[in-house]
Amino acid sequence: MRFVHCSDVHITADYFAQSFLRLGWRRWVALAELTVGGRARAYRRAPETLAAIARAAREHSADHFILSGDLTAYALDSEFQGARTALGELAEDRRRCTIIPGNHDVYTPGSHRSRRFERYFGHLLESDLPEHCREDGFPFVRLVGEGAAVVGLRSARVPPVPGISSGLIGPAQLEGLEAVAKDPRLAGRALLVVVHHAPLTHRGKADSRTHGLRDAEALCRLLPGPRHAVLHGHIHHRYHHPATAERPHIFGAGSSTMAGREGYWVIEVSDGQVLGGEKHVPQVPGGGCDTGPGRL
Ligand SMILES: [Fe+2]
Ligand SMILES: [Fe+2]
Repeated sequence: MRFVHCSDVHITADYFAQSFLRLGWRRWVALAELTVGGRARAYRRAPETLAAIARAAREHSADHFILSGDLTAYALDSEFQGARTALGELAEDRRRCTIIPGNHDVYTPGSHRSRRFERYFGHLLESDLPEHCREDGFPFVRLVGEGAAVVGLRSARVPPVPGISSGLIGPAQLEGLEAVAKDPRLAGRALLVVVHHAPLTHRGKADSRTHGLRDAEALCRLLPGPRHAVLHGHIHHRYHHPATAERPHIFGAGSSTMAGREGYWVIEVSDGQVLGGEKHVPQVPGGGCDTGPGRL
């Protein structure tokens, strides 16, 4: 079986065409990142690149497509709509597609309160095993063929202030995940667990307190060995740490649409085990790459 995993596609609106008052103070702070930080330029072609990855998923004959959060720059309606449009019919069908929110998709209390992510992608959150849901529909389980299950977790929380972007799964979802991992109906299936924040950095270390996944150790403890993989984003580097007896495979998809760093994983599963993955670069019509910043 084959899975395409991408992340942090950051569809970015034209912020200077928006009503400044309606953007709110959190996004005013973010305007520096967009302009001086080069973020707007780095994601100028994000919609075309995401559409190219969705097409590539078909060309790879992928059994399932996974996007591990940060669909938007700062959670505007038009950005969610842009992501939905770029994904096309793939985003219609929960049998073929799993998408979870990232911290940028709940960037403001208003975007979280109004359930903006759910308005565009809520139809993909329905679980095949709803008895294991613990917090607002998470974890949800998607059975893929006879050999795998994808599990969606929510680690993205509204940041107290811009610049703090750590994540937390929390004890309730972890308890639900443990029940999924032990469910005898899933014996013989590989488990691909999708979470936005990274359990480990590309250097194999814990991420910082202000950026990392606060319950990373507890997550990894529940998922030992090659039956399990954690698929994440948030760190804009693409890397794979193979499974050990104590922890799962860890795949970081980086930022799949960032100019100069475009890419995604094709992950292979067989006999209830995650075998490994291969990095690919999407073929975007028109080509040409700007260079962009590294870690956002
Ligand atoms: Fe991101
Ligand atoms: Fe993120």
